[in-house]
Amino acid sequence: MCGIVGYIGELDSKEILLKGLEKLEYRGYDSAGIAVRNEDGVTIFKEKGRIADLRLAVEDDVHSKTGIGHTRWATHGVPNQINAHPHQSESGRYTLVHNGVIENYHILQKEHLQGVEMKSDTDTEVIVQLLEKFSNGMTTAEAFRHTLSLLHGSYAIALLDSEEAQTIYVAKNKSPLLVGLGEDFNVVASDAMAMLQVTNEYIELHDQEMVIVKKDSVEIQKLDGSIVGRESYIAELDLSDIEKGTYPHYMLKEIDEQPAVMRKIIQAYQNEQDELEIDDAILSAINKADRLYIIAAGTSYHAGLVGKEYFEKIAGIPVEVHIASEFGYNMPLLSENPLFIFITQSGETADSRQVLVKIKKLGHTTLTVTNVKGSTISRESDYTLLLHAGPEIAVASTKAYTAQIAVLAITAALVAKNTGHSVDFDIVQEIGIVANAMQALVDSKEEMEQVARDFLATTRNAFFIGRNLDFCVSMEGALKLKEISYIQAEGFAGGELKHGTIALIEDGTPVFALATQKAVSLNIRGNVKEVVARGANPCIIAMEGMEEEGDTIILPKVHPLLTPLISVIPLQLISYYASLHRDCDVDKPRNLAKSVTVE
Ligand code: F6R
Repeated sequence: MCGIVGYIGELDSKEILLKGLEKLEYRGYDSAGIAVRNEDGVTIFKEKGRIADLRLAVEDDVHSKTGIGHTRWATHGVPNQINAHPHQSESGRYTLVHNGVIENYHILQKEHLQGVEMKSDTDTEVIVQLLEKFSNGMTTAEAFRHTLSLLHGSYAIALLDSEEAQTIYVAKNKSPLLVGLGEDFNVVASDAMAMLQVTNEYIELHDQEMVIVKKDSVEIQKLDGSIVGRESYIAELDLSDIEKGTYPHYMLKEIDEQPAVMRKIIQAYQNEQDELEIDDAILSAINKADRLYIIAAGTSYHAGLVGKEYFEKIAGIPVEVHIASEFGYNMPLLSENPLFIFITQSGETADSRQVLVKIKKLGHTTLTVTNVKGSTISRESDYTLLLHAGPEIAVASTKAYTAQIAVLAITAALVAKNTGHSVDFDIVQEIGIVANAMQALVDSKEEMEQVARDFLATTRNAFFIGRNLDFCVSMEGALKLKEISYIQAEGFAGGELKHGTIALIEDGTPVFALATQKAVSLNIRGNVKEVVARGANPCIIAMEGMEEEGDTIILPKVHPLLTPLISVIPLQLISYYASLHRDCDVDKPRNLAKSVTVE
């Protein structure tokens, strides 16, 4: 949550910072600010609201070649102009922006800042006030390192010293931060996407590092002052990956990209002989395990539920799937040789990371399935499998979910092959069929828009039911709908509804029922009859070959284990249109952020 940027060079920094923040808005969008430095000192502009609001507040006639910026998702203190970053020290000498949470800020304030009048309710202000206090008798670099050594928690920080025009200081611990390199300028950003407008060459920073960034040099130091050398890398990102192009929303673009992502995943995991391949070390780690523990949050958790079916049914390995935020303090009895699989689109989710930290302390092997190469959870795990879905920018996850499922299916199939389990289907061919089926579904947008109108135009609530794999997808369908349209929605196992929740069914309550699993098709049809008898408005989404008269959507036929990859597409599109019809902000729903870096 929160995104930070910084620029030092020859150009006017304002526009570069604002454009960078626009690209980081997915990380938080309740308030934003920039601080720019010129011969008149440091000028701060900050506003409650979006970057567009900040843009209006920034004065055209202030010019500067150095600046820092921030877009916020509030943790400490309500979203308002005072709590928006940048924050400044008492004398105005230091100005900083911060992404993360300082857990011991109260203690530090009590111990070191008695008598200092705080302007905001943020933990961040404590950092900048401490810095000013320690700068008495220390250089800024020393005072900054000393301050950092006292902080418990997570931070990515960019700092301006009004007495040092030629420098931006930055630091990182647990929150993402990169330094971007250019000719006669350097930049810093929470994410390479933010600065792709000016450079694609980056240096990765590690936890507990402080960096002195000048327009023509970058010096990384550890907190003891020792200097660290590190090579830069070229970010494999294209501006078109992160632009909406002609689409009205990123979510629609990302839904449409799913057939291509399926094909890209196959390509990425194929070797020169066109055979699927993953790192032998990963296969052997999975083979050695007597049980897999999948840890994830939100949509990634829902993908994990599908992954469990794959590892158990295709490869014969027992699997438990856990919600990351629960697992951390309520760990079940573990098997003798567990392998932990973290599923996380962003690779930054704090709930998942805190489990990873605990699991590493216990000495267990860890594998991360993520979309972001070099992300924190990926770097800290023993192994990584990449999703190859391309940047996902809409807050509601779509293509990352289907990519997660596809990568888990491929992995399970390879493990099965490796251990001599018979697999009676060709996964490459089947994912090819899925890609074509997805294409047919994303091409039927008008039909999906009509379904959203027919079933969701005025409703307060909606239910999604399914059995077996369809139950996993029901939960994802409900999450998609509620997060972007604010319609109260629940995903239920078809058979469970009658044990209480059926009391909520009233005349016209929409119930979306998935019927893609032959073994339970009669049962789910029975559940539909139960809700219809109580007045529900059923929308049945059935697999070709299992359809009945009156069904609303017929899904093209795919392998029964791969149905989650296609049954979710109508649910994504229906949610998208429901959000649109209700005038909600599709890509940036209220109260949310893309990368949830607080526990
Ligand atoms: C919902 C959504 C979230 C994320 C969750 C975990 O559309 O995107 O539920 O799935 O916050 O995020 P990652 O996968 O980045 O760990």
